[in-house]
Amino acid sequence: MNNKINIAIDGPAAAGKSTISKRVAERLGYVYIDTGAMYRAVTLHVLNSGREVMENLNDVDIRFSNDAHRSIYLNGADISSEIRSPEVTENVSAISSIQSVREYLVQMQRVIAADKGVVMDGRDIGTTVLPDAELKIYMKASPEIRAKRRLEEEQERGVDVDLSTLIQQIIRRDDLDMTREISPLRKADDAILLDTSHMNIEEVENNIIRMAEELLRGE
Ligand code: CDP
Ligand code: CDP
Repeated sequence: MNNKINIAIDGPAAAGKSTISKRVAERLGYVYIDTGAMYRAVTLHVLNSGREVMENLNDVDIRFSNDAHRSIYLNGADISSEIRSPEVTENVSAISSIQSVREYLVQMQRVIAADKGVVMDGRDIGTTVLPDAELKIYMKASPEIRAKRRLEEEQERGVDVDLSTLIQQIIRRDDLDMTREISPLRKADDAILLDTSHMNIEEVENNIIRMAEELLRGE
């Protein structure tokens, strides 16, 4: 086996995918790719410039910074904060269900992961983007716990939102993501299920690192 592996991390909204993926990538010295941020970037572009932009997606230049922040740039502009706006969150699942958008981003994601050493999180990484990833994790947690985690984040950012609204938003987005026609959110048959409802970040991280190290030792 090559001395690097690819790690695919999928699951519903606010399961902890990006927090954990970033930490796992840092520990292994791997590249972290947040594919949700890529779908959010296209959504922001459509909201700002109109649906016509989807006819020529090759003009949409999406890049990540190489530092620990993993800032995301759309046609040269840092859009890391803008892509977390309620408007983008509200529209992202609809834009993500469009075939041309998925084809464009999936192709980009496969190029990034071609040389291995990537931790990629999203909804369809284990099933569609990297079906040959050496380690696949499907993270889940109850909608209430996920909404509580998101609430804390929003409060830290000074956003005023209540728990029941967040629960509804999370359930609606999961439903759209799980029932769409093209690459819906589902656990790959060979993915390891991690219920993070009662695990803290370090526990989840250490679990995944242990599995990755076993694979790297060839066990
Ligand atoms: O961080 P959060 O859980 O809110 O979501 P995200 O990872 O930023 O993803 C935002 C949305 O992008 C999801 O709700 C999906 O509709 C879409 N997405 C997707 O379709 N496929 C992916 N590989 C990643 C995200
Ligand atoms: O990327 P995804 O939408 O799946 O989730 P996230 O943005 O990484 O995590 C949502 C929040 O849950 C973050 O504030 C994490 O600190 C927190 N959290 C977690 O990720 N994992 C736990 N086991 C406990 C809390």
